[in-house]
Amino acid sequence: MDFDDVQAAALNQFSRQSERYGNGHILQNIDDVAQALQSIPLQPGSQALDVATGAEHTGLFLALLGYNVTLADIAQPMLDKAARTAAERGLTVKTALHPAEQFPYAGETFDLVTCRVAAHHFSSPERFIAETARVLKPGGHLLLIDGTVADDQLEAQAWLHAVEKLRDPSHHRFLTPREWAALCQSQGLAVRASNLSPFKQPDLNWYFETAATPDKNRIQVLELVARAPDSVRSLFRIGEEDGKIVWWWQRLALIAAK
Ligand SMILES: C[S@@+](CC[C@H](N)C(=O)[O-])C[C@H]1O[C@@H](n2cnc3c(N)ncnc32)[C@H](O)[C@@H]1O
Repeated sequence: MDFDDVQAAALNQFSRQSERYGNGHILQNIDDVAQALQSIPLQPGSQALDVATGAEHTGLFLALLGYNVTLADIAQPMLDKAARTAAERGLTVKTALHPAEQFPYAGETFDLVTCRVAAHHFSSPERFIAETARVLKPGGHLLLIDGTVADDQLEAQAWLHAVEKLRDPSHHRFLTPREWAALCQSQGLAVRASNLSPFKQPDLNWYFETAATPDKNRIQVLELVARAPDSVRSLFRIGEEDGKIVWWWQRLALIAAK
């Protein structure tokens, strides 16, 4: 399969870092998924696709709920780890190696497509949403959870982009809630909910370690943190706790229906 530069960067990054995303990662807490699913009507046996499944925290939660789950990712080591964890927990899942921008499924295959804390790596959120709309059954739902920046906060958006790109070169871009809503609507998906909530990043050093951030980039990020303008400082609640730099991501949970 041919990948563009953004996809190749994600493949390279997450193939090397797969072991960092399992137990002990802050994404292990899936309260955000559980809460969002309360407003999506699904029966046991529903067909679910978890795109960019990573260490499968979302995908295996869906399997626990009794759905028929396909875990998809661009990085085979992530899928290998996901399959091992599923087997350890006695859960049955399918795995599928493909990018988020091109799905190998027939139209109207899934009742639910989920994608959590991954879409900011995608080279084309447009193609991801178009593919999602294509493979959802009529009445099916998309649950998208990702970092974002509230609409019209351009300074904060530029700052966050610089920080994330230095930390992990496979970061591509955060879309605002309005941009995601427009993409969904352009593909015939009706936005049912679009909620922002704060999500604590408990330790900047740990965050560097998960991405194997080079030392020179860490220094640049620390400079950006030290010089962060007031608008950024207050929006992300940048602070220090027990000698650790902490801040609060803005997390978007968007639900759209076909
Ligand atoms: C932070 S992890 C995802 C976390 C996971 N969804 C969860 O809930 O625990 C990001 C994942 O996105 C995948 N990824 C990045 N770009 C991708 C793309 N274009 N297509 C498919 N997967 C991609 C990476 O390989 C990685 O496994």
